[in-house]
This record gives sequence, C-alpha cells and structure tokens, in this order.
Amino acid sequence: MSLDFRTLWWEDDALQMLDQTLLPQEEQTLVCRTKEDVWEAIKRLSVRGAPAIGVAAAYGVVVGALQAKTSGAVLTREMVEEICDYLASSRPTAVNLFWALDRMRKIASESHDILNDLLAEAKTIHQQDQDICRRIGEHGQTLLSNGQTVITHCNAGALATSGQGTALSVIYAAAAAGKEIAVYTDETRPLLQGSRLSAWELQRCGVHATVICDNMAATVLRDKDIAMVITGADRVAANGDAANKIGTYGLAILAHEHGVPFYVAAPISTLDMSLEHGGLIPIEERDPKEIYEGMGRVTAPEGVDVFNPAFDVTPAKYIKGIITEHGIAAPPYVESLARLASMSPAP
Ligand code: MRU
Repeated sequence: MSLDFRTLWWEDDALQMLDQTLLPQEEQTLVCRTKEDVWEAIKRLSVRGAPAIGVAAAYGVVVGALQAKTSGAVLTREMVEEICDYLASSRPTAVNLFWALDRMRKIASESHDILNDLLAEAKTIHQQDQDICRRIGEHGQTLLSNGQTVITHCNAGALATSGQGTALSVIYAAAAAGKEIAVYTDETRPLLQGSRLSAWELQRCGVHATVICDNMAATVLRDKDIAMVITGADRVAANGDAANKIGTYGLAILAHEHGVPFYVAAPISTLDMSLEHGGLIPIEERDPKEIYEGMGRVTAPEGVDVFNPAFDVTPAKYIKGIITEHGIAAPPYVESLARLASMSPAP
C-alpha cells in the first residue's frame, strides 16, 4: 500500500505537514519553525488524530530546542521539560501526545547531546508509527471478507497518523490482500473529519467511499448489510472503554442494536493503563463557534448556548475487539489489554 500524500514530515530543520484544515479543497504545506507554530497546528487541527499528534509533538520538541539554540541559549534538560509542558497543553484527550512527550523527556534526561538525540528519537517515533499502522492493518484485515461494507466515523486514516492509519489501515490492508471493501463514512459534525478527510483519502486510495450525515447511520445499519463498524481511538482505559470523536458512542449503541460488530483500531500507545475506566478520560471542549459558525455561515441564533465536546467514551461492553499492532484484544479487556500493554509499543 503506497500513499501519494504525506501527513507530516521533517525537512529543512522544520516540521512540515499537509494543512488538514484546508482539505479537501486545497493541498497546502504548513511549515512549523517554532514551538508556537506546532502548538497552534495541533490546537487548530492542521494536524490531528491521536498518533499524528504524538509524532507532531515529538518533532515540536525538536523545533522548540532548535529555536532555543538559535536564540543563543545553551540547551538544558529543564528547557526541554518546559517545551514539553507547553506542547502538552495543546489538546487534552489523545494520550499519544503525552506518551510521545514522555519519550522526549526521557531522552533529554539521559542525553549528553540533547538536540541530536531528540531529533533521533522523534524520527524513531515517526518510523515506529508507520510500522505500527501497517501491522494494525494486517491484523484487522483478517476480520474482513471480499465484498463487505463497513462504517467508520471521523478520520482514523493516513491523515490521522504518519503511516496508513488505524481503522482505515484495516481497509487498505484488506484491499492490498485483494478484497474489495466499501466504506460508509459519517460526515462527523462539527468539523467534518469524515467527509473532508476520510472520504478524501479513501477516494485517493481507490476505495469506494459513501458520505452520510451522522444522523443517517441507523438507517444504513438497518438497510445496507454492514459487516462491521470500525473506528480509531484517542485514549483507551484499562477496562477497554474507548474515547474517540464525538458521535462514536452513539454509533456503537446503534451497531449493538442492529447486531453489527463494533471494532476499535488503535496502537498500544493509545492505551492508558493508569485509568481504570473511561469516565476518567479528560474530554476536550472546543470553541462553540465550530458549531454555530462551522459551515461558513451562522447556523444558530445569536447568544444561544452551545455545548461542544470533541470526544465521547464508548463503554467496553459495546466493543467486540480492539485491533492493535500486537493482535486483536477481546473482552475481558482488563486482562487482554494488560497483556498487550506489557509488550513493547515498538515493533
Ligand atoms: O479531533 P480529531 O480530528 O483529532 O479526532 C480524531 C479522532 O477522533 C480519531 O478517530 C482518533 O484520534 C484516532 S486516529 C488514528
């Protein structure tokens, strides 16, 4: 499976990325040369999706370290800690952000050549993410047969990682194994990651994609012979409860009601074994404007209250399996995830 676009890369001493806020209309590169550039790119969703946020943050630390050096400072571990704290404040839910920053903190605390070692670690995280995505796809595609149709929500594809995705990696790996799989992609209000991003990359990769509004999923599950629902995750608690883009929880309940299996695809780095259950996962709330002015015009009366949580938590009881790079975890997740988490996240 080879992609003809890149989500993010390191070039010319800067983090470069495809600016996802402009898709699908424009393909523009955003160049981040300061830690503030990287923080804002994560916050505004120019780069988004849990694994991609982790990789971007790792390079963000390098960018911050270079910035400090250019200003004449001698790079210290304390400075790297400060850069990491700063980047950690960009978004709260995807645990990959904190996981990647912890790896960078550790390198800085052990290194005698901080800048070079930070860059090497960021490149390793980047490379490992690509391998992990491929392996998630290989495990997940065994669940699919030729001619089947799936539903996905948000974007857990190549655009959400630095490789070929998590949920969509399963589709790409199935396609590479000669299976023709069709995908219904929820539009994913309010920021339309399903229609703007998943449909864009599926089409680009030759997979048949059909966009539906989020409120059409029940009808599709009832009428369209759906083999499975498959989504990504931003953080999975020790008991298997999984935070993902707002709307995932409702989709899981609908799948359950229609007897359609619901799978989550996520790397080990998305597991947060320190949290006993999903109620402890911090859920980001975003600018109300994304709801009342998200479509290029005002769509709600001025002054109305708006609630805009970016994620929800799907209880483990609705999840048939969690597809990781080390295999597919099955319930009871307290046991299966503990086993997987004890394996190295690196391939
Ligand atoms: O707000 P976003 O676009 O960063 O949300 C992304 C998701 O919810 C993805 O499904 C999740 O991060 C998994 S990406 C492989």
